[in-house]
Amino acid sequence: MAMKKTPETLRSARWFAPDDLRSSGHRSRTMQMGYAPEEWTGKPVIAILNTWSDANPCHAHFKHRVEDVKRGVLQAGGFPLELPALSLSESYVKPTTMLYRNMLAMEVEELLRSHPADGAVLMGGCDKTTPGLVMGAVSAGLPMVYLPAGPMLRGNYRGKALGSGSDAWKFWDERRAGNLSTDEWVEVEAGIARSYGHCMTMGTASTMTAIAEALGLTLPGASSIPAADSNHIRMSSAVGRRIVEMVWEDLVPSKILTGAAVGNAVAVAMATGCSTNAIVHLVAMARRAGVDLTMDDLDHAGRTTPVLANIRPTGDTYLMEDFYYAGGLRALMAKLSSRLDLSVLTVSGQTLGETLEGAKCFNDDVIRSLDNPVFQEGSLAVVKGNLAPTGAVIKPAACDPRLHQHQGPALVFDSYPEMKAAIDDENLDVTPDHVLVLRGAGPQGGPGMPEWGMLPMPKVLLKKGYRDMLRLSDARMSGTSYGACVLHVSPESHVGGPLALLKTGDMVRLDLKARRIDMLVDDDEIERRRSAWRKPADKAGRGYGWMFAKHVGQADTGADFDFLETRFGLSAPEPDI
Ligand code: FES
Ligand code: MG
Repeated sequence: MAMKKTPETLRSARWFAPDDLRSSGHRSRTMQMGYAPEEWTGKPVIAILNTWSDANPCHAHFKHRVEDVKRGVLQAGGFPLELPALSLSESYVKPTTMLYRNMLAMEVEELLRSHPADGAVLMGGCDKTTPGLVMGAVSAGLPMVYLPAGPMLRGNYRGKALGSGSDAWKFWDERRAGNLSTDEWVEVEAGIARSYGHCMTMGTASTMTAIAEALGLTLPGASSIPAADSNHIRMSSAVGRRIVEMVWEDLVPSKILTGAAVGNAVAVAMATGCSTNAIVHLVAMARRAGVDLTMDDLDHAGRTTPVLANIRPTGDTYLMEDFYYAGGLRALMAKLSSRLDLSVLTVSGQTLGETLEGAKCFNDDVIRSLDNPVFQEGSLAVVKGNLAPTGAVIKPAACDPRLHQHQGPALVFDSYPEMKAAIDDENLDVTPDHVLVLRGAGPQGGPGMPEWGMLPMPKVLLKKGYRDMLRLSDARMSGTSYGACVLHVSPESHVGGPLALLKTGDMVRLDLKARRIDMLVDDDEIERRRSAWRKPADKAGRGYGWMFAKHVGQADTGADFDFLETRFGLSAPEPDI
C-alpha cells in the first residue's frame, strides 16, 4: 500500500489536532461520547452515510449491518462515525423518490464537507439512493466506497418465483381482468417481498448497484450478494477495512470515475437489460465526474451491446438470487470483457481486469455469453423526432414487437387523476392502436418525473385480452415495468416541449428502427398551437418543490440541479475555521 497521507495531513486533523479552543471543543465533545483520545488521534475518520430508516424495507438490515462496517473500520485502525442520510424509500415516498434524489446528493456532499471526514462509506441500494449517494460523494471528492444493500430473496407464490414490481403489475392486471380473487391477491402481497434487501428483479436498484460496481465504486462482486446472505456481512466489514486503506492511499473518486469507467458502466448497464431510469442517473453521475455522456452515446451502446443477464423483466425466468448463484456481476463482466476497458482503477486498488481474474460462471443460461445473448441488442433505445427533439427512451426488449413500428391516434391526458378515472371506464373510446399519452409529469412539471410512464392498460382492452399498447409520456417508469412505453420525452411539456402541443386524435408514429417519434401534424399547425400555448403554473408555491422546479434540468441532461453541476461555478470551499 502506497502511503500518501500521514496522520498530520489527514483532513480530520484540522478538527482534532490544533492546540486551540475550537479544536479543544471537538476533542472534548468526542470524549463526551465515551471515546478516549487514542481512539481517534491520528486515525482516518470514516463517515458512514447510512440511508437506513424505519420507512425503508429495502434497507432494514442497514440498522445492524452498519455495525459490521464499523467493525472493519476499527480493525483497520480507523475511527467510524455513522451519519444518517435521507433514506429515499421507493416503497413509501410520494409523489416519487426522484424528487429527492438531488436532495440526497446535496445532503451527502454537505455532510462530508462539514464533518471531520477523511473517507466515506455509502450505504444504499433502493433505487435513487445509489445515484444520490454517488453524485454527492463525487462532488465531495473524498475517498469513498459504495456498499450496496443487496437484493432481497426471490418472491414466492404457491411455489412459483415472484419478481419485485414486475409480477405485481402482471398479477394486478389479471385481477383487473377478473382472473384473481382477493384472497389470492393477498397471498401475492405476502409472498412478493419476503426479506430485507432491494427489489430482486433487474429493476432500477439492481441496475444502479451493478453500475456502481462497474464504475469501480464497490468491492469486487459486492453488488450481487443477496442482502440476507452472510457473505453480505463479510463484505460489509471488508468495506470498512478497505476504506481506511484508501484514505492513506488518497484514492479519491476522480482517479476512479474516468471517461473509461463511465464507458464500462454504460456497457454493463446495457448487458444487464437495464432499467430505463439508468439513463437519467448515468448521465447525472457522469456529469458530476466531469464526463460528458450524451443520449446518442447511450443509444449507440443500446444498439451494440447484447443483453447477457437473463433476469426479469427483460429476461423471462430468473431473478437476482439466481444471478448471484450463477457467478454474479463479476461473471457477467468477464463475459463482456472484450467490450470493457480493463485498465481502469477500482476502489479495491486493483484494476478492473485484476478484479475479474478467476471469475467463473456457474449457469450459462442465467448469464449468457456474447454469442448466445438474451437479446442481440435492445436494452434501451433513444428516439427523437418532432415530439421529442432532445430525446426519449424506450426499452424495446420489454415491449410487444408489433409496436416497434406503430402509428395510431393519440389519447391525451394532462394529469394522472384524469387518466386514472378514464382508464377504468368501461365505455372509454379506445382501441389497441391508440397511443395513450400523459404529460405534465416531467422533471419540472411532475415535479420530479414520477414513475407514471407505464400508463395502465384501459380495462376494456384488458378484458379483450390485450396486454400492451403504445404509451408516451414525459414521466419515468419503474425499472421493473415493461411494455411499449416511450418515456422521458424531452423537453417536457411543462416547459413547452412539443408534447404540450399534441391533441387527442392526432396521429402519432413510432419508428423504432429509424429511432423516431413524431406527431403527424403540419408544421404550420404545430406553430399555431405553439403561439397559443401558455406555461402552466408550477405545482409547489413554496419550499423544496418550488426550488426543485426552478433549478432541475431536463431528463436528457440527467435532471440534476443547475447549481450542483460540476461546471456550474467554483468548487465549494472547505470550512474556514
Ligand atoms: Fe427499494 Fe424497489 S422498493 S429497490
Ligand atoms: Mg423502482
